[in-house]
Amino acid sequence: MCKKMIFDILTLFPEMFHSPLEGSIIGKAREAGLIQVNLFNIRDYAKGKHRVTDDYPYGGGKGMIMKPEPIMRGIEAIQSGNPEARVILMTPQGYPLGQEMVKRLAQLAHLILICGRYEGVDERVRDVVDEEISIGDYVLTGGELAALVVIDAVSRQIPGVLGDEEASEDDSFSRGLLEHPQYTRPREFAGRKVPEILLSGDHQAIEQWRRQEAVRRTWKRRPDLLSKAGLSEDEHKIFDELKGSSETD
Ligand code: 6GU
Repeated sequence: MCKKMIFDILTLFPEMFHSPLEGSIIGKAREAGLIQVNLFNIRDYAKGKHRVTDDYPYGGGKGMIMKPEPIMRGIEAIQSGNPEARVILMTPQGYPLGQEMVKRLAQLAHLILICGRYEGVDERVRDVVDEEISIGDYVLTGGELAALVVIDAVSRQIPGVLGDEEASEDDSFSRGLLEHPQYTRPREFAGRKVPEILLSGDHQAIEQWRRQEAVRRTWKRRPDLLSKAGLSEDEHKIFDELKGSSETD
């Protein structure tokens, strides 16, 4: 039996986490005790009457910087009693989150996710974090949404969170190809027909078609993935045919 995974969140906006963690699969995983999410307000660790958590940058410049002490005190408070917890800073300067990183994080028992805000956090916070993660090449107003992405992606790797069938679903992405197109009823909708082959009952032909479409879509949209994908002999043939026909999606 696996121990439940704990996510401790340090944020100035704990309310941002409420509704996303309630519904659907993540809500059920929490109810089932497979994961636990604890919210800590950084402001609670700030001192003084006004509990200030940010200040002007030394050297000048625009925007505010998150002060080190409240964040450090928050980390210490959570870590006391949980020295093995991994401390992660959510920042656009972090290492990019990908499915491999997600799987690695899912092996850990306890993550502390620090959500940066404003123009950033005091550099000295970096000395006490184990790693820094970004969820992509765009700038968010804060690390909260990024932390939710980590919670969601990591949680669905934990045994029991998904059903058995869903659990193997990301295999194709892990393998480095985009998913093939999917259809459900009706057979014809607004003049658009489901590809005949999917109705044929010929499982081998359907499998072949799906691989072809997966390679086609990946080549068109994410050629960067294709070069890393490690295609099977079959898929190489499909790819060569696609290139030869110089068709576009
Ligand atoms: Cl983790 N934080 C912020 N503020 N922006 C981001 C990000 C994180 N990842 C991508 N953009």
